Amino acid sequence: MGYFRENIEKTKGYEPGFQPRQADVVKLNTNENSYPPSPMVLKALSEISPEQLRRYPDPMGSAFREAAAEVNGVAPDYIMCCNGGDELLKMAFQAFCDENRPVAYPVPTYSLYPVLAKLQNCRAVEVPFDNEFNLPPKLAASAAALTIVCNPNAPSGSLITVNEMVSLADEVSGVLLIDEAYVDFAEKDCTALVKDFDNVIILRSMSKGYSLAGIRFGYAIARPDLITGLIKVKDSYNVDAVAIAIATTAIRDRDYFRKTVEKIKAERKRLTKQLRSLGLDVRDSSSNFVLAKCKNSSAAEIYEKLTRRNIFVRYFTYQGLEDKLRITIGTPEQNDKLLSALKEILKE
Ligand SMILES: Cc1ncc(COP(=O)(O)O)c(C=O)c1O
Repeated sequence: MGYFRENIEKTKGYEPGFQPRQADVVKLNTNENSYPPSPMVLKALSEISPEQLRRYPDPMGSAFREAAAEVNGVAPDYIMCCNGGDELLKMAFQAFCDENRPVAYPVPTYSLYPVLAKLQNCRAVEVPFDNEFNLPPKLAASAAALTIVCNPNAPSGSLITVNEMVSLADEVSGVLLIDEAYVDFAEKDCTALVKDFDNVIILRSMSKGYSLAGIRFGYAIARPDLITGLIKVKDSYNVDAVAIAIATTAIRDRDYFRKTVEKIKAERKRLTKQLRSLGLDVRDSSSNFVLAKCKNSSAAEIYEKLTRRNIFVRYFTYQGLEDKLRITIGTPEQNDKLLSALKEILKE
């Protein structure tokens, strides 16, 4: 008998996107924000005291909790800090799923969900999106203990309306987790649902809209009863003192956040238009990336050729994503480099 539980033995594990070591590359493969975090963040970092490092951190990250509550118009007990949005996903699987309590989600979507299902040894009901990435009508019928909808969805960048999410929250029998990791780049979010529904958890990330992928910080918004249950699952000190200070400063700098998001949205519009004029089929995106289908060449080939030019994007081999490249919206300079490389490659 092997050392590991059978389901762990059989799982390949999540494969994170490639993280090149060199700094002088055009890195458009893992949807980080292309701009640096607020300058206030570096100031907050320089003000960390030895005492803050010597002591264990505040287990609930109260400073962040209060700031995020203000930003989202809820009370602080609706917020739980986590070590990146990914930690919240893991906690949700641990809290709601097991051999008899399945998870359901539309596909294609964030490829971490099936990995977490395998680790938790729960059945995953994968309901295909249609070609337009509309919410599958059969999703609620799966009677899952946990239903996850990534909104805006990755890697399609598509957005499901708040009204449709309200209907889904009403229909599902278990918990509905709305993964809003990319919502900072969308026009609408589903925060209001937590006021009306006791089964809705909203996931937020500080990695994308706030340029803080390096510190690993995210949070949940949900009714206090759900938050209290999730707290039982979390590590006592799941977010560290430095991360709490930095994330709190970043979420409070509303001006910087808005300006950065607007710059990315403007570049998203420009990049989408330019890629289309190069003959790629590009979906409108509500996120900080676009999904582009190469009409006459394979995505793998273009990916290789871009990589040789030190331009990193992502491509997938899953069903429904064949021949598609996912490209993070870069700075205007990065996007220009990508566009001129693509122009060359597509002529070859
Ligand atoms: C759809 C989705 N959800 C959640 C996350 C988790 O983000 P983080 O753990 O960096 O907060 C990611 C990260 O890429 C994501 O793509």
